[in-house]
Amino acid sequence: MLLEVRDLHVEFRTRDGVAKAVNGVAYGVDEGETLAVLGESGSGKSVTAQAVMGILDTPPARITGGEILFQGRDLLTLKEDERRKVRGAGMAMIFQDALSALNPVLSVGDQLGEMFVVHRGMSRKDARAKAVELMDRVRIPAAADRVRDYPHQFSGGMRQRIMIAMALALEPALIIADEPTTALDVTVQAQVMDLLAELRRELHMGLILITHDLGVVADVADRIAVMYAGRIVESAPVHDIYKAPAHPYTRGLLDSIPRLDQKGHELYAIKGLPPNLMRIPPGCAFHPRCPMARDVCRTDVPPQAEVEGSGGARRSACFFWRECLDGRHDG
Ligand SMILES: Nc1ncnc2c1ncn2[C@@H]1O[C@H](COP(=O)(O)OP(=O)(O)O)[C@@H](O)[C@H]1O
Ligand SMILES: [Mg+2]
Repeated sequence: MLLEVRDLHVEFRTRDGVAKAVNGVAYGVDEGETLAVLGESGSGKSVTAQAVMGILDTPPARITGGEILFQGRDLLTLKEDERRKVRGAGMAMIFQDALSALNPVLSVGDQLGEMFVVHRGMSRKDARAKAVELMDRVRIPAAADRVRDYPHQFSGGMRQRIMIAMALALEPALIIADEPTTALDVTVQAQVMDLLAELRRELHMGLILITHDLGVVADVADRIAVMYAGRIVESAPVHDIYKAPAHPYTRGLLDSIPRLDQKGHELYAIKGLPPNLMRIPPGCAFHPRCPMARDVCRTDVPPQAEVEGSGGARRSACFFWRECLDGRHDG
């Protein structure tokens, strides 16, 4: 396994109290594999990713437990200079907002080239040539002419390609893309997603794709992990989830995707709001919103049950995963 997150806990100390943002997350990514991490806003997707990248601000964040094994080493035990080497060369991150992730006063060529100067000791001239090569690779038209341009001179989609190029520069084994297309127009979203999928295949990288949009992951991901209130509530191979979810929260997410083949069909929305992370409900955190909830769900935390017949590939944190799989609802 390329990356294995084990029982990760992260909290934020604020003036109003302690927000438990990540509460025992476990997930893994193999070489060349794509894991999609799904869940509503505030479920802990980005905080988990930032912990993996080692870019959490501590304080206010505090990692209170767990391990992050990358190529067999626990990153949480590394010193900051070792950690820095892993970033960039071992793993890289793509953010939602390229404009704030890129340096506005450096040309894109200089920013891309910097990676090769700093990490590979290249000359400015060679680094510039590498920058053009990368811009070509992410299909920026007329790369050689545009290498001197600044981030604001590019369209949103092109800027996102430049950030992808930055992430790819040192050919890391793992890329984490945190809602990489959310800020883009729908048609551009699809192009950027296709590019990412293609590069991942070409370079055989592991990819963690964070998104709140179940619609985009079907074609791209191998596995899905669904997060709710800082926990993984279901994890499974992507096709299994589309066939039949084993957690009522996943079912709710699936039922709320607009579908072209069901025009006029009323769109389902999961009732209620995600919990306040300073007061996570007892038992299953999803129970106040769950159409299947029973007494035990209000008192007991459901374990990560292995879905029978999946050979360990599929887990659900619902007491009633069987009924969920069968599509039986109480509500
Ligand atoms: N800088 C911060 N200060 C306080 N709380 C934070 C901070 N960043 C994140 N959190 C808490 O962590 C939760 C999870 O955030 P995040 O991982 O960004 O969610 P998402 O799933 O939308 O990426 C938030 O709902 C919030 O309670
Ligand atoms: Mg986020």
